[in-house]
Amino acid sequence: MVACLKCGAANREGARFCDVCGTSLEEIDRSREQRKVVTVLFCDVIGSTARAEQLDPEATRATMARYFETARTAIERHGGTVEKFIGDAVMAVFGVPQVHEDDALRAVRAAVELRDAVEIGVRVGVNTGRVVTGSGDTLVTGDPVNVAARLEQAAGLGEVLIGADTYRLVRDAVEVELLPPLEARGKSEPLTAYRLVAVTGEEAYLRRFDAPLVGRSRESRLLADAWERVRAERACALFTILGAAGVGKSRLTQEFLASVDATVVSARCLSYGEGITYWPAVEIVKQLLGDEPPDDLAVAALLGHGQATTDEIAFGVRKLLEARSAERGLVVLLDDLHWAEPAFLELVEQVADWSRGAPILLLCLARAELLDQRPGWSGGKLNATSVLLEPLVPEETDHLIEGLLGGDDLDPGLRRGILEAAGGNPLFVEEMLAMVRERGGEDVSVPPTIQALLAARIDQLPRPEREALERGAVEGQVFHRGAVEALSADGMTVAGHLLRLVRKELVRPSAAMVAGDEAFRFRHLLIRDATYEALPKSTRAELHELFANWIAEHGAELVELDELLGYHLEQAARYRFELGAPQPQLAARASAHLGAAGTRALERLDDHAAMNLLDRAAGLLDDASPARLRLLPRLAEAAHMIGDIQRSEDLLAEAIDRAPAAGEAAAALRARIFASFVHGHMGRAALPTLLDELDQVLAETQAAGDEELTARALHSRGWFRLWLGRSDDGLADFLQALQAAGRASSPKLVDEASGGVAAAMRYGSTPWAELEAFLDGQAQAVSRPTGSLGSDIHLHRPAALAARGDFAAARAYSAERVRQLEERGATFVLHSIAFNVATTELRAGDLASAERILRDAWVGLEAAGERGFRAHIGAVLAETLASLDRADEASAIVDASEALTADDDVITVAAAHRARARIAAVRELPDEAAAHARQALDILDRTDSVDAQVETLLVLGSTLRALGSITDATETLRRAVELGDAKGSLVLAGEARALLEELSRDS
Ligand SMILES: Nc1ncnc2c1ncn2[C@@H]1O[C@H](COP(=O)(O)OP(=O)(O)O)[C@@H](O)[C@H]1O
Ligand SMILES: [Mg+2]
Repeated sequence: MVACLKCGAANREGARFCDVCGTSLEEIDRSREQRKVVTVLFCDVIGSTARAEQLDPEATRATMARYFETARTAIERHGGTVEKFIGDAVMAVFGVPQVHEDDALRAVRAAVELRDAVEIGVRVGVNTGRVVTGSGDTLVTGDPVNVAARLEQAAGLGEVLIGADTYRLVRDAVEVELLPPLEARGKSEPLTAYRLVAVTGEEAYLRRFDAPLVGRSRESRLLADAWERVRAERACALFTILGAAGVGKSRLTQEFLASVDATVVSARCLSYGEGITYWPAVEIVKQLLGDEPPDDLAVAALLGHGQATTDEIAFGVRKLLEARSAERGLVVLLDDLHWAEPAFLELVEQVADWSRGAPILLLCLARAELLDQRPGWSGGKLNATSVLLEPLVPEETDHLIEGLLGGDDLDPGLRRGILEAAGGNPLFVEEMLAMVRERGGEDVSVPPTIQALLAARIDQLPRPEREALERGAVEGQVFHRGAVEALSADGMTVAGHLLRLVRKELVRPSAAMVAGDEAFRFRHLLIRDATYEALPKSTRAELHELFANWIAEHGAELVELDELLGYHLEQAARYRFELGAPQPQLAARASAHLGAAGTRALERLDDHAAMNLLDRAAGLLDDASPARLRLLPRLAEAAHMIGDIQRSEDLLAEAIDRAPAAGEAAAALRARIFASFVHGHMGRAALPTLLDELDQVLAETQAAGDEELTARALHSRGWFRLWLGRSDDGLADFLQALQAAGRASSPKLVDEASGGVAAAMRYGSTPWAELEAFLDGQAQAVSRPTGSLGSDIHLHRPAALAARGDFAAARAYSAERVRQLEERGATFVLHSIAFNVATTELRAGDLASAERILRDAWVGLEAAGERGFRAHIGAVLAETLASLDRADEASAIVDASEALTADDDVITVAAAHRARARIAAVRELPDEAAAHARQALDILDRTDSVDAQVETLLVLGSTLRALGSITDATETLRRAVELGDAKGSLVLAGEARALLEELSRDS
């Protein structure tokens, strides 16, 4: 039921006109509760009580009546509405029922006129903000009203005080003095207030307020609910708004943000910045920290001080968000997320998944193509919501047109044309009406698409304005006045042109990223794109280069400067190339910046960005150029990280082949180290041969005094020795590598060497307790509580815990790592650590779990074309299956694993024998079982792999027992106890003891 506001009659739901008096009900509908931006004016008489005592009542009444009359006239003349009289005070509102584009300025003018016209002393306060308007007694309510009243109370005789938001809207038309902040009751923060000195200009800074929001009630409700939950449950939620450009994602968000009491930080991903991973993260961190220095190493690294991996950064940012959400709750607005780098998306997901007890709303805006790149985005999360913002339906579009016209006339044919062409896109409607307004009475046709419409609008701009806009477009959606000036011919003054562009609503003032400059933002990215696309390639080339020079000079403080510079120089070089006039020097400059950025990405294990940046850097250079050859080994490492093994191999081969002749010895060495590592790992070459190769490389790197390459070579050699079962020798290499990496000041290499140390301690004769002490020391030394996923130093922690029987702790630890890797989609790493995870289950005696974990990896690694890890996993899987009495399956898998096993991968060869021993035991062939166990032991006795030895002794002990050789069995198991005890492998030693006891009962 809808009540008619005029006559009160009840009408059917959906009726458009009142059945009784014929008034439009839609009007009424829209005048019911609404949130909109209005300007509120309070005016009060000073000393009215005193006056009332002095003057005779008759005279007082007459004076006050004239005052009220004068006030009303002044207010109404400027389009305001007197809302009520409170004692001697007048409250007026500008913006109801009709919003004007310049309500703030109207209110300020009315204030001055009123003050000058009344014959008694008054004071005035003016403030702008979003309020709820309704019908009935209190037409307008909300905080902005209270602030206006407070400003009025603080004003002196004859003064007009205006609030910050009003000032923002009228600043070009007034002269003011900034006052000291005002304390206000019920407000945590003091108010900013300005004393109005004079109204000087004709036009307000922003001409038009947005038309009232149309539709979107369901989406607004979902958002409000999500926020409600975040606050009530003090939990994190991920809310994604998907939709086409111009459909209203930002607008819906703005409306929501205006209604919440929260700390809000916002950032956007750059449209052109592929490889710029942390731009939005830096923005957010800066907003949260203000001038405070970061107290987290990874956050400091994000701001350009030091190094950290992607995972450490994600963790550091999460902690910061959690801390800052505590007080009021935090909304993190991330716009244009479809342009985010994978590592940044992972950061967002990590916050969504892992933050606990912190009221954080992650509000993400993106075009639907986000789901093409990331089909699983927000899927499978209980705390995530996605809404697709559909185009407005024709009725809503019509309302929008109505709202934007604000009572002006529009030719019905044209109106229909707009409605049809817009296809429910509000941006189209706004831009079309702006064009109609700008063209005055002229005939306008309706362009068929939003792109064509924007192109037409820009095309019609006066030339200097268009040129200023174009120069801005080269920088991006946000651009600086200084850059526009630098890119303009003969020092053209652009301030005036930019101001006119602001008035035409093409750009808006924005926060500058370059200190001391002024920034503007295209009102919509599509406007930026349309402007840019209209530029000829030669101009683009020229402007990108000029911009690069400008930002190099003025943007020294920017964190991702190399990425930005590289991008703009790359564009310039690419256009020149396309125009048939390549400029190798320009390309080389671009490549140098992209290469530096890519190398940093590689160091922080940001694989996708590293690949992107290094590939672009190399692609800009001649095939044979030394700079390109220097990039090749890095590019090969990045390709290997993202799993493109073939590409990685090709790049390495090329570097080794061509670099020495070009005088790039170090590049060839780095490629040789990495190639031998990959070959060794893939079982492509015999380890002793590769060890020789590494010895040669090492001699060269040491002779050259290259600590970094020395650390890399020692690291590889350490692994080869480990694979050969010489863990204690490997340990020596890793310890040396650790020192060289420290001297080379490379946190990444230090990390990797530490991982090697831990592995060598684990597999060799070093007692578990020593390994644990080392791990503790590492955690403190580099204070990286998360560890990093790429270097798996802390992966050995669960093995140590499981070895002494603390299965709960071991499982918890592994589970956390596995979740992290799953979240990252790092399936390859996940499979390659399966052995670690399964070992805990094997020690705990949960064979079924162990089987599941190992089998996943066995299948997954095959798909990835991996051999080294897979062969070992296969042998252990076969052993597990045999222990589950599934001899046939076990036998098939051990055969398959053997086909993959390199002869010199002694640990795997021994494991396969052990598997065959267990299979034979299940098949009740004890002789065969004992023979295989003995072979395994022979091999392992030439290594220092203590745990593997103990496991083998256990198998041999039980087969001997089955054969009735009690003495041999006893001796075998005693050795197992002794070895196990020395290493601190309490579970294995315990198993041996239990068997010994059974034996003594046998005899
Ligand atoms: N529901 C709506 N009601 C009124 N105006 C809208 C609505 N949705 C969008 N607009 C206006 O249309 C323009 C484009 O919307 P915007 O939110 O910037 O789109 P997006 O962020 O999806 O690209 C903005 O000027 C906005 O104020
Ligand atoms: Mg937007």
